[in-house]
Amino acid sequence: MSLEKAAIAVQANAYAPYSKFKVGAAARMDGAVYSGCNVENASYPLSVCAERNAIAAGVAAGARHLEEIVVVTDASPPSSPCGGCRQVLREFCRDPKAVKVIAINAKGEHREWTVAELLPDSFSGAELP
Ligand code: THU
Repeated sequence: MSLEKAAIAVQANAYAPYSKFKVGAAARMDGAVYSGCNVENASYPLSVCAERNAIAAGVAAGARHLEEIVVVTDASPPSSPCGGCRQVLREFCRDPKAVKVIAINAKGEHREWTVAELLPDSFSGAELP
């Protein structure tokens, strides 16, 4: 399945009773597609974003390298990933300049960046001793 189709399909399963803002994400990691949706909680800060759930699904399956991610929302223009998710995306990039982040919505609008553009001068494990 394409990343776009997987992201749109999983958006339908988003659990967002508080914000009503449903998000779907599909990440290609080590050649396979992993999807995730946002999962909110009555204790609001425990909510988890779609992008992080997609990455977690890939990591749980043994994947380690993010190649591309598509995020779908109902926002116009399409929403970009939050700051926390940007850092999590960066964690799994071999080269943040080569990993595309594509935001779409059902209207067919499309925005596109690299992880490096969304999180310039990023902190990574390379900094650590
Ligand atoms: N959300 C995401 O899933 N991804 C983002 O990058 C931004 C925000 C979710 C979190 C919460 O469930 C809802 O959208 C409103 O913030």
